[in-house]
Amino acid sequence: MAMTFEPALKPLILALDTPDLDAARRIAGRVREQVDIVKIGLQLFSAEGRVAIDRLKQDGFEVFLDLKLIDIPNTVAAACRALCEYEPLMLTVHTMGGQEMMRAAAAAVAGKCGETGLRRPLLIGVTVLTSFDLLTLKKVGIPDSVEEEVLRLAVLARDSGMDGLVTSPLETLPVRREVGEEMLLVTPGVRPKGAKKDDQKRVASPREAMRDGADFLVVGRPITTSEQPAEVAASMLEEATTRTTDY
Ligand code: C5P
Repeated sequence: MAMTFEPALKPLILALDTPDLDAARRIAGRVREQVDIVKIGLQLFSAEGRVAIDRLKQDGFEVFLDLKLIDIPNTVAAACRALCEYEPLMLTVHTMGGQEMMRAAAAAVAGKCGETGLRRPLLIGVTVLTSFDLLTLKKVGIPDSVEEEVLRLAVLARDSGMDGLVTSPLETLPVRREVGEEMLLVTPGVRPKGAKKDDQKRVASPREAMRDGADFLVVGRPITTSEQPAEVAASMLEEATTRTTDY
């Protein structure tokens, strides 16, 4: 584990992929015992704005704000300063925005939180989206394999002040080996054994993902579409917390 939190946070992050804040709060409330952190992505943030963050924080959750920021360095820095006001635990930026952009984001959150006393969000870099494959990369002018590109961006992110990375189950182990223990790894595409994959191209069980070096697991539909979300979350949490570090 790259960092310790006080108090320790459970490793499951519940993805609230809905535009409806009431529905999001209802499902999050059903797994309150198993989940400390919820993911608010572009969909919920676009629909409900900062109210979504405020309400879920009032409900007792930490927020992983997954907006995958990418723009010129000055604009991303300004957005980061503004988002610090909402005090998310984690905030994602897109590593394809480049080194200057990531450094500007890191300096912005450090500066803003230093000036105001707000809690500094952890900056988490997104590398290659899971919707990309070799052909998609080629079409945007990148001749390398997905793994080569992910590893290149992961090292760039580490050297540009990011605190962590989002890694698919395919990439968690090689990225952990490449970047070392210092970075937080947040892994989506996690499924209980035998569950359907939905549109996830590659999935891992909670135990496999943690064994590969993940610190947090982002789980959506296996929990949100279940008739018994608390039971599913509890069993995934139990699997995730019987972890090993031998990778
Ligand atoms: O598939 P699930 O509902 O568990 O998705 C959880 C998160 O995983 C989503 O919020 C999204 O960020 C990510 N995801 C992904 N690739 C997909 C589908 C979802 O990275 N194909």
